[in-house]
Amino acid sequence: MAKGTLNPIAIFIAITILTSTVGATSTADDIIQSVENFYKNLNKDKLVLTKLKYYIHANFGVGPTQTVFEVARSNITGPSTNNFGRILIIDNKLTVGPDVNSQKVGQYQGMNAYSDFNQASANMNMNIIYTDGEYKGSTISILGRQPVSEKIRVLSIIGGTGLFRFARGTVLASTYSSDPATNVGVYVYDIYVVTPSVEKSRKAES
Ligand SMILES: *[C@@H]1O[C@H](CO)[C@@H](O)[C@H](O)[C@H]1NC(C)=O
Repeated sequence: MAKGTLNPIAIFIAITILTSTVGATSTADDIIQSVENFYKNLNKDKLVLTKLKYYIHANFGVGPTQTVFEVARSNITGPSTNNFGRILIIDNKLTVGPDVNSQKVGQYQGMNAYSDFNQASANMNMNIIYTDGEYKGSTISILGRQPVSEKIRVLSIIGGTGLFRFARGTVLASTYSSDPATNVGVYVYDIYVVTPSVEKSRKAES
């Protein structure tokens, strides 16, 4: 077979692997294992995999410490149990540990739009903005769907700037803690980000 021609058997195997590892009924552990295996088996000759773990601090309480603001809602948002039509604008602190006073790496900024009639699920359009540490001046762009009742929410990394230029990857988001008394939610982000190997020597741009 000529070089560069797509091999139908390889395509069949790839599709079989894809469809057998991404099932609608996956448990949280299945999802984590599937993502872990995918990145472990990725061809690293031309790609660099960076694994990151951050904690995001969201304050829903009205007042000077508030970080999540509702900016719009549809006229069916109120009575609906799924928040449909609710739009939030967010500027949350990002740290290396679960304590809000642990080392800060940046901010997690953007928009959540609840856009599912049947379950509470936010369409996330977010950026990690590095303000401190080795990635200062770089950004990672995250897009995805977040069904809030799922233990693991899987989001896509669709790009980045600076050290994360041309980035692709996956975020496994889960809830670390949620305190109705203080209106503070802490979320864990396990991040698998892949960049071209040229990025190894690239400096952050601010
Ligand atoms: C929402 O607004 C539309 C158009 O203004 C109206 O036709 C509809 O009855 C409203 N729905 C509710 C639940 O208020």
